[in-house]
Amino acid sequence: MTLDLRPITPGFAAEIVGHDFSTPPERALVTAIRSAIDQYGVLIFRGDPGPTDEQHIAFSKLFGPIEQGNIIKVSGFDRRRVRYLELVDVGNLDPDGNIFPADHRRMLFRKGDRLWHADMSFMDNRATYSMLVGHEAPPIGGDTEFADARAAYDALPVEMQRLVDSLEAEHSIWHSRQLAGFPEPTEEELASRPPVRHKLAHTREGSGRRSLYVASHASHIVDWPVELGRGLIAELTKFATQPRFVYRHRWRQGDLVMWDNLATLHRGTEFEDTKYRRDMRRTTCRERAIDSRDAGYA
Ligand code: OGA
Ligand code: MN
Repeated sequence: MTLDLRPITPGFAAEIVGHDFSTPPERALVTAIRSAIDQYGVLIFRGDPGPTDEQHIAFSKLFGPIEQGNIIKVSGFDRRRVRYLELVDVGNLDPDGNIFPADHRRMLFRKGDRLWHADMSFMDNRATYSMLVGHEAPPIGGDTEFADARAAYDALPVEMQRLVDSLEAEHSIWHSRQLAGFPEPTEEELASRPPVRHKLAHTREGSGRRSLYVASHASHIVDWPVELGRGLIAELTKFATQPRFVYRHRWRQGDLVMWDNLATLHRGTEFEDTKYRRDMRRTTCRERAIDSRDAGYA
């Protein structure tokens, strides 16, 4: 069994054609997928057909401990549309399958996905891979963009690499939500997911490449004046997301896109979200086994 791998650029994003989600893959194939994601950062499994929810979850479990339940407690998230706790519902549909009203907290919350980010950077136990399946895509808009945070690190001037290597940022889900216009968190919400610190750059196991780790959950630089740190984070995010580092994914029904959150940044893009349906479901792998501190809520 070999991968039919079609690189989109020599170092970033590759399509995999004809993957069969209906049977568990051989060990060699899993190893080949791991080395492909190490090399390309983003893999696009073209759905023909795409995985069912069960196959999506089973596939994801091959690559690490996977998250279950909502990672934050937010009112308005009480009823689930998608049955499995492993699936994060990132579309715009309510539990009855209708489009949410524009002012619903869920719609506001998801607007935060349209800012550049790495999933779960606000957790101590960070996300490694995310796997997003497109079940229904709008006819125009609603693409997802990915930026190569390794190529961006490599392209930084050496003095900037040195500076970045010496710094840590504080990350908080509430910071990115507020940037996206979400209301102030309550005390309880705030306490449920306190900020965490991560280095601004790290070496990714597997590829051995350095990668920038910034964007919208990062609120400031540790030990720096807040505004100064915010400026550097904004500058680095802008640098890392220049068109030369970006792949834009136009969804087709059944696509599964897998990305490495420790090597890339991503964001959703605009579409007429009160007019068109968008049904997207994500699984998320973590760096380490998930314990009670970072488990999700039912
Ligand atoms: C995600 C995400 C963007 C999109 O699922 O983590 O950021 O385009 N999605 O839905
Ligand atoms: Mn995301």
